[in-house]
Amino acid sequence: MTEMTPVTDTNAIDAKKPVLPDAQTVTSVKHWTDRLFSFRVTRPASMRFRSGEFVMIGLMGEPHPTTGKVKPLLRAYSIASPSWGEELEFYSIKVQDGPLTSRLQHIKEGDKIILRPKPVGTLVHDALLPGKRIWFFATGTGFAPFASLLREPQTYEDYDEVVITHTCREVGELKYGADLIESLKTDALLNEVIGEGFWKKIKYYPTTTREQSPKMGRITDLMRSGEAFSDLGVPPLCPETDRAMICGNLAFNLELKEMFEEYGLEEGANSDPRHYVVEKAFLD
Ligand code: A2P
Repeated sequence: MTEMTPVTDTNAIDAKKPVLPDAQTVTSVKHWTDRLFSFRVTRPASMRFRSGEFVMIGLMGEPHPTTGKVKPLLRAYSIASPSWGEELEFYSIKVQDGPLTSRLQHIKEGDKIILRPKPVGTLVHDALLPGKRIWFFATGTGFAPFASLLREPQTYEDYDEVVITHTCREVGELKYGADLIESLKTDALLNEVIGEGFWKKIKYYPTTTREQSPKMGRITDLMRSGEAFSDLGVPPLCPETDRAMICGNLAFNLELKEMFEEYGLEEGANSDPRHYVVEKAFLD
């Protein structure tokens, strides 16, 4: 992680500014709430990734108080854009005293960030056995890898139904995901490539826990009571038909894993595809 590689576009470097390793340029920033924002950066020409994977991104840290040396400050971020996208999109929390996001939240179009172009991760189709229905379970910014997978043609080629659940504290925190899902209906390119009306396979189930909304409660509780399944009109998960990907905070991931094991689902990996996979959402 400390290896420094020079940026390729040397003409763009201001001689007085420190050179960023693996620099990419911010192309747009959108603030969704006072706790959440998304942004896009240029994509390295040679970088390939599978929808659902993450990369390390960040900024240069503050100079060391005695040596004056600066080191990159990097965190794992799921790529929210699909594998075929021209740019890379990220969805982030803002933590006011977080080492990275306290600064990252102030980036503007034209700024540079560091991006290590080595994508990895388990929330990929390769880590799952064939099935009929795929479930995406997210809390908060854990929606990011699913923003990628919901725009990935393979998701709809592999499955008859795509269920996405998103649990957030407040209604405003659902907007990034809700807008993205709504945008699929009018996305001319995706409707042409995947098939007209592909988005009708999606069942979207947003819930909030700390602000009034049409569906209140943690998804885990709503599944335990059976309410989520009756609302969605689908049976509880079973190993014969259902595949699942989980991305949220640690307690959420662990609770869902336990529930899945009770349903008889087994955890998969790139090298050993099974019924479900898990990734922890980034928190600064
Ligand atoms: P709650 O408000 O009841 O804690 P956070 O912002 O803390 O990461 O949480 C995001 C969302 O995930 C919140 O709605 C939170 O609900 C919910 N959540 C936290 N822990 C769990 C869990 N173990 N199972 C299900 N949902 C959870």
